[in-house]
Amino acid sequence: MKVNPVRIGLMGCGEIAAKAAVPAIQATEWAQVVATMDTKIDLARDLAEKTGAAFHTDDADALVAHPEVEAVIISAPHFLHVPLGIKAAKQKKHVMVEKPIATTMKDARKLVETCRKQRVKLSVAYVKRTALDSIKAAELIRKGVLGKLTGFSLISMSEKKESYWSGGFTGRVKTDWRTKRATAGGGYLIMNFTHNIDMIQAMLNLKPRSVFAQYDTFRTKVEVEDYVSVVVRYTNGAIGTFLGSTICPGRFGAPDHIYGTHGTVVLGNPLKVFTRRKIDGLKPDEWNEIEVPKNNSRADLIENFARAIRGKGKLAVTGASGCTSLEVIEAAYRSQELGRPVVFK
Ligand SMILES: NC(=O)c1ccc[n+]([C@@H]2O[C@H](COP(=O)([O-])OP(=O)(O)OC[C@H]3O[C@@H](n4cnc5c(N)ncnc54)[C@H](O)[C@@H]3O)[C@@H](O)[C@H]2O)c1
Repeated sequence: MKVNPVRIGLMGCGEIAAKAAVPAIQATEWAQVVATMDTKIDLARDLAEKTGAAFHTDDADALVAHPEVEAVIISAPHFLHVPLGIKAAKQKKHVMVEKPIATTMKDARKLVETCRKQRVKLSVAYVKRTALDSIKAAELIRKGVLGKLTGFSLISMSEKKESYWSGGFTGRVKTDWRTKRATAGGGYLIMNFTHNIDMIQAMLNLKPRSVFAQYDTFRTKVEVEDYVSVVVRYTNGAIGTFLGSTICPGRFGAPDHIYGTHGTVVLGNPLKVFTRRKIDGLKPDEWNEIEVPKNNSRADLIENFARAIRGKGKLAVTGASGCTSLEVIEAAYRSQELGRPVVFK
């Protein structure tokens, strides 16, 4: 079958665009970069050269007005996701935005509503959703390996170098947006944990009932948190525990554990499953290890976005579902301000 690739304009040509978005687009025949934009023109030119895009600019209006551009991928500081997304949607361009969709739910809803009114697709780059280990785990959980879900523990204790706060992991862009609440929306929780919260809630089809959080900035000279602990009670009774940090000496990344009355699932490759039940050829009452093929989940997500634009299938991450982790994150920050759990109506 001959594919008609979706013509993409990149908005923001910093670290993630160069490191991940461009290689992912190049890995799928369903999308191609035709234009690039960054307020730092050198970065826009660099990615135009790397992708063969004929047009580069430092003007967002020019990018979204460009007749060749059908969709944009926004890889800019968090506080700019919504204004840039709305700008693109108003020009009838489809939008994929980096995570988080916004820094507040109020802004996120504005973007979702604008894209709905303009009849353009909106997706959020939650790349864990298309990772094959989470897809396989979701399938086994649907088949009943856990019994009744009791909860999960997601622990991610990283140690980010001081240089991260002024230049990310690669130093491609000198900037301080990651250090401030107004531009980043927060620290580890909204910057990194948003992926894990999104993935687990989507996988287990969870809706939060209440959120309690404590966080602090223990060591880093920034406004945003460098250590955070969150407990979420879901409407089905399950209790989710999240613990994350950017200042853990020695770093400690425990795999994500999901618990039920009859089983435990440990995400990763191999996927580990312990179940008391006879399901899907798994040996009951012992640990089963399941090898999962490795995929380029970002390329798969971009392909899914492009195919949905071409009317071939549904979005893996819609704008509305891309808000669900932000709902919890916003409540977590509020919880500490209030000194009590935030309960959803
Ligand atoms: N760096 C990572 O590993 C990583 C991983 C996953 C997701 N992300 C997400 O990607 C997004 C961008 O992060 P990053 O690490 O690439 O940041 P970055 O600072 O390296 O790049 C952001 C780019 O946006 C540009 N920019 C600023 N204002 C702009 C505007 N008005 N219009 C267009 N471009 C503008 C900057 O000049 C910069 O080049 C964030 O949402 C981040 O959470 C980053």
